[in-house]
Amino acid sequence: MNQIIEFSKLVHFTFGDSVLEIIYLLASILFIIGLKRLSHPDTAKRGNLWAATGMLIAIVATLLLHRQNEHRIGNFGFIFTAIAIGTITGWIIARKVKMTKMPEMVSLFNGMGGAAAALISLMEFPHINKELIMQHGLLNWQALVIFLGLIIGSVSFAGSIIAFGKLDGRIKDIRSRLLRLVNIILLVVIIGITLFIMTRGQINPVELTPFVYILLAISLVYGVLFVMPIGGADMPVVISLLNSFTGVAAAMGGFLYNNLVMLTGGILVGSAGTILTILMCKAMNRSLFNVIIGAFGGNETSVESEIGTIKEVSITDAAILLSYSRKVMVVPGYGLAVAQAQHLAHELDIVLEEKGLEVKYAIHPVAGRMPGHMNVLLAEADVPYEKLIESEQANDEMENVDVVVVIGANDVVNPAALDDPGSPIYGMPIINTLKAKNVIVMKRGMGKGYAAIENNLFFHEKTRMLFGNAKETLQKLVSEIKNM
Ligand code: TAP
Repeated sequence: MNQIIEFSKLVHFTFGDSVLEIIYLLASILFIIGLKRLSHPDTAKRGNLWAATGMLIAIVATLLLHRQNEHRIGNFGFIFTAIAIGTITGWIIARKVKMTKMPEMVSLFNGMGGAAAALISLMEFPHINKELIMQHGLLNWQALVIFLGLIIGSVSFAGSIIAFGKLDGRIKDIRSRLLRLVNIILLVVIIGITLFIMTRGQINPVELTPFVYILLAISLVYGVLFVMPIGGADMPVVISLLNSFTGVAAAMGGFLYNNLVMLTGGILVGSAGTILTILMCKAMNRSLFNVIIGAFGGNETSVESEIGTIKEVSITDAAILLSYSRKVMVVPGYGLAVAQAQHLAHELDIVLEEKGLEVKYAIHPVAGRMPGHMNVLLAEADVPYEKLIESEQANDEMENVDVVVVIGANDVVNPAALDDPGSPIYGMPIINTLKAKNVIVMKRGMGKGYAAIENNLFFHEKTRMLFGNAKETLQKLVSEIKNM
């Protein structure tokens, strides 16, 4: 340990802070390359490694070379113990988690990021620069950055924990107009307390600590209540919004410590999360303001359901229908991921193409349980990327499709989103399978989707149900078609 300390002293004596700044710049470049590579399934894994390497370099360099007011970082024992506990826990969780449980893990990790940002603010509030206080009172940039980190970080922490509980099925949605009003009032109170503290003039911050704790408590309550009414099909939007919150909160820490790499890292997460949130809002046809005050989904009474009888189809009849078609559209969903049926879906596509059919995959932006879930699975099964088309294009082509094969999808093909104003998914764009000539739905039974609502598609006259685990059903279907 002494040798490390001596080495860092020597480096600092020779080059000053410039080495650290250059290393931070390098780490930031690695983050950006990593992020860029994450945008395609083929390069995503390496992209993750690039970004992780950037983070490792930044942490090691900070520990060895960082100085503030000529003080070096100390307490290495505590720091390394905390890093070891975090690394081992994260490693074990990440190795054990199933692909379909990824959103829960992302929520939990995201919440930890928010909590860390809020803790930084809590710790740094009593240490706001005295000169700044003499000049401007508490109405200064350091105090502002501390409050933003505290509020956004704690909202992100509390919201992410509730999102985790919802994704895991432990917490149920609570919806009421009153809750929206409460959320708006809480937002106003949060802004009010912040302004109250910041306008106290040239005061020792320690005297205002109780108000800071009140601000923390109200922000946590707001974090819980704003996620509470959001549920079902709208969860992806709230998860990406919380993700961007954590990035912004971390960037506040970067401003506070004048730390380039923390700032870039936070801004990258914040801006990527914001772009994803906007895309998700567009995909779900929701407004960002409604997300922030927790006002999502239909609130009118649901129209009378047209539930009727379902029509099953045998493997042989499904194989005949498919073989005599010209154009087939596959709609993959969460059930395909659960069954790990992506390779067989590709095999079905190959045997159909060998018979001269055209096959495409319609990818809904929130199919599965995480952004890009279906793209990742299908890339894993070597489905050519050009065959994957977005919902809008799929709907444009749907009238020329002879058979739509829905594999373990439910909410993303639910017509209630188009014609039931009372439905929680009303307004969400769907893949409109009913525009095609025939629909085959593969699922195990009459189980509901993530939004836990009935789906009239299964009862429609164009639809044939092919019950069973997607993997086994596809296996039988592929061999039936091969033998025809
Ligand atoms: P879901 O609506 O969740 O429906 C999946 C269907 O798959 C279920 O109805 C289930 O019916 C069937 N299934 C389950 N296991 C199966 C198996 N082994 N074989 C065959 N079928 C199986 O899926 P979706 O249409 O993809 O929609 C995704 C939903 O998740 C949306 O509501 C979305 O908002 C939400 N969500 C998405 C994300 C992201 S970012 N993608 C994140 C969180 C939540 P049976 O039980 O009858 O088989």
